[in-house]
Amino acid sequence: MKISVVGCGYLGAVHAASMAELGHDVIGVDVDERKVAALNEARAPFFEPGLDALLERTLRSGRLRFSSDMADAAGARVHFVCVGTPQKRGEYAADLRYVEAATEGLLAILAPGDLVVGKSTVPVGTASRLAEMVEQKVPGAMLAWNPEFLREGFAVQDTLHPDRLVYGIAPGEPGQRAQELLDEVYATILEAETPKVVTDYATAEMVKTAANSFLATKISFINAMAELCEATGADVKQLADAIGHDDRIGRKFLNAGLGFGGGCLPKDIRAFMARAGELGADQALTFLREVDNINMRRRIRMVELAREVCDGSLLGKRVAILGAAFKPDSDDIRDSPALNVAAQLQLQGAVVRVTDPAAVENSRRAWPDLDYAATAEEAAERADAVLVLTEWQQYKDLDPVAFGRIVAKKRVLDGRQALSREAWTAAGWSYRALGRRTD
Ligand code: UGA
Repeated sequence: MKISVVGCGYLGAVHAASMAELGHDVIGVDVDERKVAALNEARAPFFEPGLDALLERTLRSGRLRFSSDMADAAGARVHFVCVGTPQKRGEYAADLRYVEAATEGLLAILAPGDLVVGKSTVPVGTASRLAEMVEQKVPGAMLAWNPEFLREGFAVQDTLHPDRLVYGIAPGEPGQRAQELLDEVYATILEAETPKVVTDYATAEMVKTAANSFLATKISFINAMAELCEATGADVKQLADAIGHDDRIGRKFLNAGLGFGGGCLPKDIRAFMARAGELGADQALTFLREVDNINMRRRIRMVELAREVCDGSLLGKRVAILGAAFKPDSDDIRDSPALNVAAQLQLQGAVVRVTDPAAVENSRRAWPDLDYAATAEEAAERADAVLVLTEWQQYKDLDPVAFGRIVAKKRVLDGRQALSREAWTAAGWSYRALGRRTD
């Protein structure tokens, strides 16, 4: 099938390449000409494992092409809208201007029978508003909402092998036709018996924000337990292991530490609260404010802990920060807890050196005042404390004995429970982690 994908960021670039991998004929459209040029040369404009190879393969097959001209999307039967919905400046609500611009841009090239499919995360109510616009301007064209659940770092795998498909469709005949088209797009995925939920627009929109809110709540729950563990001398990692054995609870997303960041969880829970307020249902989501608070407190606590291990003062102390991305296997630094901590430490007088296997360039652009190093060894030279703030495999694999020879003081703060407490302690390091005993 001929498909267009509008917006070629984390979501759209992966979606476009994956649709081509499934055998479709795909045109990816983005307003950023540099991004388009890079993608046409099989270079992903961001770090995502497996994406360059997938781009290479699908571009070579002739089934994938990128363009900055929306007119090139004409002739496609299904048009995916994959643009960003960032948090509005100074407000909690989502900024919908890109979704609106993309949909309006499509109106000029849509033909009757075409389907517009929203994948962006939007406040509930957006899809029905856009559907009205599409149906009015192009009679016979349809709209569906098909949220995306991919995780950065696993984006290709999550797109090609999702754990479910959700279709939000209009009632009646148009919805039926939309569903048939989506089934055709996802035929290979459906053959693998992937569960499919067909529902209305509002439910489909809410599935996405509810899922991200649940994940954020799970992380903040275990981080709240970490605060209590610190007050009682209990150990949050053992606690998580023990409660995680109950399969109603599950061990996933119970890793206590520096908390969640990135371009999705923080802004999605805020936009959800803002939308609930507009709908007069704000009480239902006041708990998310606490989820956000617990999360932000972890960053402050990390700074306090660093001060504590640096004998009560950060002034002039050399602190190595291992990790800048909001999570491993990504170069995304949006709302990165690691960079937030690094900046706070520097503002409080520490001499901070930050390193990351993939995110140094992005970090330097956003936080030019921080000092950066190419490797963990370089960052840790003569350090008074080492903070592991993103759990890259490279840092998990560090040899605490050899690493101990580089630093001035063998003090490590494990912000992600990434290291073996036993191995580092045995090598003579003082090991500290949020919510864990010091022994
Ligand atoms: C998240 C969701 O997991 C995806 O399902 C969703 O599609 C995506 O947002 C989106 O809305 O587009 P992502 O932002 O890539 O995906 O990252 P996650 O893997 O969810 O991690 C988010 C943050 O939580 C990271 O900072 C991570 O370090 C932190 N985290 C995760 C914890 O602190 N503890 C955990 O146990 C797990």
